[in-house]
Amino acid sequence: MRSRDARTVDVRLGQRSYKIVISSGIIKRIGPYLARLPIGKDFVIITNPNLSSSYKSVLKGSIEKEGFTSRFVLMAEGEKAKSEKAISRAIAEISGFDRKKALSIIAFGGGVVGDAAGFIAAIYKRGIPYVQVPTTLLAQVDSAIGGKVAIDLPCAKNLIGAFYQPKLVLSDISILKSLPPRQIRSGLAEVIKYGVIADPRLFEYIEGHLNDIAGLDEDALRFIVSRCSAIKAGIVEADEFDRKGRRIILNYGHTIGHALEAASGYSKAYTHGEAISLGMAAANRIATRLGILDETVSDRINSLLKASGLPTAIKKLDPKKIYEAHLKDKKFSGSVNRFVLPVKIGRVRVEKDIKEAVIRRSLEECYGG
Ligand code: GLY
Repeated sequence: MRSRDARTVDVRLGQRSYKIVISSGIIKRIGPYLARLPIGKDFVIITNPNLSSSYKSVLKGSIEKEGFTSRFVLMAEGEKAKSEKAISRAIAEISGFDRKKALSIIAFGGGVVGDAAGFIAAIYKRGIPYVQVPTTLLAQVDSAIGGKVAIDLPCAKNLIGAFYQPKLVLSDISILKSLPPRQIRSGLAEVIKYGVIADPRLFEYIEGHLNDIAGLDEDALRFIVSRCSAIKAGIVEADEFDRKGRRIILNYGHTIGHALEAASGYSKAYTHGEAISLGMAAANRIATRLGILDETVSDRINSLLKASGLPTAIKKLDPKKIYEAHLKDKKFSGSVNRFVLPVKIGRVRVEKDIKEAVIRRSLEECYGG
């Protein structure tokens, strides 16, 4: 079952431990992987219409060959899938065919599907097992790993959620080849983030293999997805419930990044990765202003972002609006802000209570033509 090109990363969380398997074409072999899990034999695949039309027969074929049942539940494309209404509708559909079954959920899609399906798994009958099969670079390196699942309310994103770990993550790198380049770049922002927060060798690898990555070379994809999965696994193992101040480093670039997404009304102006790229550029400015990051290192990070086709200069949006939006950031502790700032490639630190003037100036400096 296990192909020679497969890489496995363990996420060690006691009884909640699981494996991440990274391989090309792994969805064709999903059935045997599911057969090894101590879970039921009835699978609900939560996905969206596009992915379903491309991959339904492959998934169904492999799952049913093992003697399991499979049902597809389709969610809308995009963030709409994370609304209360969409979740209630999906749960009603699942409960409609849940008779004499031992259901488990398969989240087959990008970050939105992973969050929505994981959330349904966490709450349906007070929790049923689920498997993540992420189909975007961003989901493979980040959102499918770690167990944070959530849905949106009209007043805020990810407001209702849980920590609920999957039983298995299967990352099929061959699926990435069907993604539009903008989505690959969006995922690459998170990959660069991992290099800056934890791994200078990963950072150097990206610098040296940008053409291979952009050309979706399988060896390059396998390497970056495996490396990022291992880094994320290590951080989640150290701080599963985000209480020990370790998981916060994953938020490098996300304070201003989230503020940008909010200030632009979550429009298509920025993908998540593009917003994070700008957030990293802004964090670098703050860090150089505070004297904790050398200008040359900041330039090196920004050059890699630019060479990857990611933005480092904010356009159009009013800096005041971004500043206001950042005040709602979850990393605030009371009235005290917290930023994850790089000190060198491979090391970040959390800085608290950064002065308003420093943030505002840094944001202003991030504007460009
Ligand atoms: N689901 C993403 C995380 O747990 O960080």
